[in-house]
Amino acid sequence: YLNYRVPRTRRDIFQTLIKGLQRLEYRGYDSAGVAVDGSGKDHAASISLYKKTGKVKALDEEIYKNNGIDFEAELDTHFGIAHTRWATHGEPSPVNSHPHRSDKNNEFVVIHNGIITNYKELRKYLVSKGYEFESETDTEVIPKLIKYLYDNRENEYVSFSTLVERVIKQLEGAFALVFKSIHFPGEAVATRRGSPLLIGVRCQYELSTEQIPVQYNCGKSGSLHPFFSNQCCSLEEKNLLNRRGSTNALHSVHDRLAVEFYLASDASAIIEHTNKVIYLEDDDVAVVMEGKLYVHRIKRKAGEDPVRVIQTLQMELQQIMKGNFKAFMQKEIFEQPESVVNTMRGRICFDSNTVILGGLSDHLKEIKRCRRLILIGCGTSYHAGVATRQILEELTELPVMIELASDFLDRITPVFRDDVCFFISQSGETADTLMALRYCKQRGALTVGVTNTVGSSICRETDCGVHINAGPEVGVASTKAYTSQFVSLIMFALMLSEDRLSMQQRRLEIINGLKKLPELIKEVLALDDQIKSIADELHHQRSLLVMGRGYNYATCLEGALKIKEITYMHSEGIMAGELKHGPLALIDKHMPVIMIIMRDACYKKCHNALQQITARQGRPIILCCQDDPEISKMAYKTIELPQTVDCLQGILSVIPLQLISFHLAVLRGYDVDCPRNLAKSVTVE
Ligand code: F6R
Repeated sequence: YLNYRVPRTRRDIFQTLIKGLQRLEYRGYDSAGVAVDGSGKDHAASISLYKKTGKVKALDEEIYKNNGIDFEAELDTHFGIAHTRWATHGEPSPVNSHPHRSDKNNEFVVIHNGIITNYKELRKYLVSKGYEFESETDTEVIPKLIKYLYDNRENEYVSFSTLVERVIKQLEGAFALVFKSIHFPGEAVATRRGSPLLIGVRCQYELSTEQIPVQYNCGKSGSLHPFFSNQCCSLEEKNLLNRRGSTNALHSVHDRLAVEFYLASDASAIIEHTNKVIYLEDDDVAVVMEGKLYVHRIKRKAGEDPVRVIQTLQMELQQIMKGNFKAFMQKEIFEQPESVVNTMRGRICFDSNTVILGGLSDHLKEIKRCRRLILIGCGTSYHAGVATRQILEELTELPVMIELASDFLDRITPVFRDDVCFFISQSGETADTLMALRYCKQRGALTVGVTNTVGSSICRETDCGVHINAGPEVGVASTKAYTSQFVSLIMFALMLSEDRLSMQQRRLEIINGLKKLPELIKEVLALDDQIKSIADELHHQRSLLVMGRGYNYATCLEGALKIKEITYMHSEGIMAGELKHGPLALIDKHMPVIMIIMRDACYKKCHNALQQITARQGRPIILCCQDDPEISKMAYKTIELPQTVDCLQGILSVIPLQLISFHLAVLRGYDVDCPRNLAKSVTVE
């Protein structure tokens, strides 16, 4: 965060940093830290560090306990950094949390998102040069390394950004980094490779969405400020621009503007300050100095676009606020009637029964000719692939593989130029999925992103894609993103089968089903009280099995994942067809079982499974269609759902399981939005 020509008190600065961290808390929250200029007269000559284990609130309290801080001091220019950590190397503790420092004088401090894979070698080298380490983290090699390079610069003048460039040349792994130093007061340097980083720009004038020129291979000079459109300048400034029309004129306009820059790994941290952002690319180095922004690249590849666009985010603060709900997860479950509409908006024409996904149109021919479709994701996003595989196979008549990204890479799976690979990811930043994407790209396959985060790495690195448009998802447990991924993949199958005469009846049935979906989701949400009473009964249990098959197998996997991640109960999604091959041994009158039995092609087979369960005194709670007396009489309890087209039923059947897991977690006294050991965006392998 850099504040230029807008005097702010030190209290404002702390508040801005802490608030930003709180908005990012869902990404990781086992400790937090902040670095600001020191409190002395020449405040930029020293850096103060405050760190604390636990939630950001604990850090906030720690800062305010500190009597040595002059909170009312006014500062014209200030650059502070802050970080919430989710431990990957070293347990959560103040010393392991960020910002990390070069030495006891805090000459260089750094925050890092990602993972440094060659840190052991670097650490060994730096230790051999006499540098002392205080933490167990991979990150600490970075401030030590920059100090080493600074200490050994001999008589050469080396700018802050050059030092950073030299540091990252030595780093392997994934990182978004922001540096601060007492040797370069008021200056911020940031860079990324593999982890997201954006810069929010807030200005007293409305910024145009014109492009920013980016100067390459340069660390010292250059005019790399946002262009300001004429209508946002005063008359005097307009004349100045018209008269001189040069970069210098832009300089002088810029010099008189009060600008603040916000560097963050996620837009939700900064959205309350500005909706104008620049997404940095891998190997971009951004410097904020004397109120100006400089962006350059370490290496410029031939044909690379030399500009970064200022984008206007559509996200609004209220979208990331909880409203009247107890938790973001609950809010997001209840948003599903609208979020699925947003996914379909402008893409399905219900009059002509056509589906157009604009992001894929240019590649349609290529996709239709492909050898196979490969759907790749992790966790819930993988389940969206499981849920839609059958209808994709039916409508596209192509072989469809579904893959967990980590396993896909472990197997060094053969991928060919005529494969089409889908990367499904809410965040668009999941490291395993991103690596699988790069793997497929290298092998020449067409890569398609299915993401919820505009500007994310997966979004940028794929050849084409579909934004699921579910809106920001804050709860760590994914809910509305799943149903929107589901709908997006169904729309893809519909688009691909548009010219198949034999499929028209089926397509029509599905399109009509999609049209009615929001109303049916509302009907399911209306069962919340009934579902809560079932949760009341179950919340002391240790285990919960979820069983089904066919179109609803994915629901079992997804339901069990929701239950285990936020209630910490053991839960398993069981393919009912596998019952006799092992899981039946678990069944007795004490084992809680939820079964999903819908009126579809698997109905009879599920009925058989139900008989097996009741014969062993199992007492299943059954998710079934309305008015199914056959099932009701064998069930311990039923949750009756409206019926829709078989391939869409999973969108409805997952909602009671989302709700059950939410209520179970509340009843068991857990923090629904921040389950232990988990983070929203898994940017490490
Ligand atoms: C479960 C959950 C995770 C994510 C997984 C992939 O509720 O949220 O299993 O689905 O980490 O994340 P994305 O979709 O961001 O790639």
